[in-house]
Amino acid sequence: MAKIIDGKAVSGQIRDEVKEKIEALRREGKEVTLAVVQVGSDPASCVYVNNKKKACAYVGIKSLAYELPEETTEEELLALIDKLNRMEECNGILVQLPLPVHIDEDKVIDAISPDKDVDGFHQSNTGALCIGRPGFLPCTPAGIVELLRRSGVELAGRNCVVVGRSNIVGKPVALLLLRENATVTIAHSKTENLKALCRQADILVVAVGKPKMINREYIKEGAVVVDVGIHRNEAGKLCGDVDFADVEERCSAITPVPGGVGPMTIAMLMKNCMLAVCGKGREAGR
Ligand code: GUN
Repeated sequence: MAKIIDGKAVSGQIRDEVKEKIEALRREGKEVTLAVVQVGSDPASCVYVNNKKKACAYVGIKSLAYELPEETTEEELLALIDKLNRMEECNGILVQLPLPVHIDEDKVIDAISPDKDVDGFHQSNTGALCIGRPGFLPCTPAGIVELLRRSGVELAGRNCVVVGRSNIVGKPVALLLLRENATVTIAHSKTENLKALCRQADILVVAVGKPKMINREYIKEGAVVVDVGIHRNEAGKLCGDVDFADVEERCSAITPVPGGVGPMTIAMLMKNCMLAVCGKGREAGR
């Protein structure tokens, strides 16, 4: 039977550590403030944004909510970001993705000051990650590596296969695993013999966005499986990119959905906000 890697418990530890540090900052007269910007009312985004606001309240971060209508123009959004970049009180800026199709996401991400980019999406921060310089780390990839580290999973020298090459998860998590001295392969929709490749993985990270795509045929006996996907089926039940029931017997450890990677993302966001105020945002990668 596989060990269940408990992201809820580990993220709870991180939140409590961040809470303590934020209390210490407050004693020095420093407040932490995060601007959370949402355009439109995509139901999944509403849930994520709400969870982020709740986490802020728990750790003692002030959140400034900007809920903008779907029809907001790119210009209006860029003007808000410019205002937040200049606002001294605001330490972190988070623009929830996806944005409506009439807004260029890259332009918006580029407009956020790299020093307030607590999502770690700005090219200055992604570039820093790529070449091993200090910068904000993207929250889901950083959460995955922290979850593995705190669960006692050795990464150095191990074979890691990442399935998925998105800018938000696949590419950055591969870079972070590489930084931990793992041997890393990135697989994607055009990869040939995906099953055989995945079966070589000591650690398999799946971020493909397809419900239950990965079954036991993709798993090496004793592998550690990290499931980044989250989907809701017709009955309203949550599941991941991995068919949990099918692979559970075969792997040594697995992250569940829900309660695996998801809560880690928010915990790492809280950590980035705290680091932004310490003036250590640019060292967050160390
Ligand atoms: N949409 C899905 N994941 C994320 C995330 O980590 N940050 C933001 N801003 N939007 C997202």
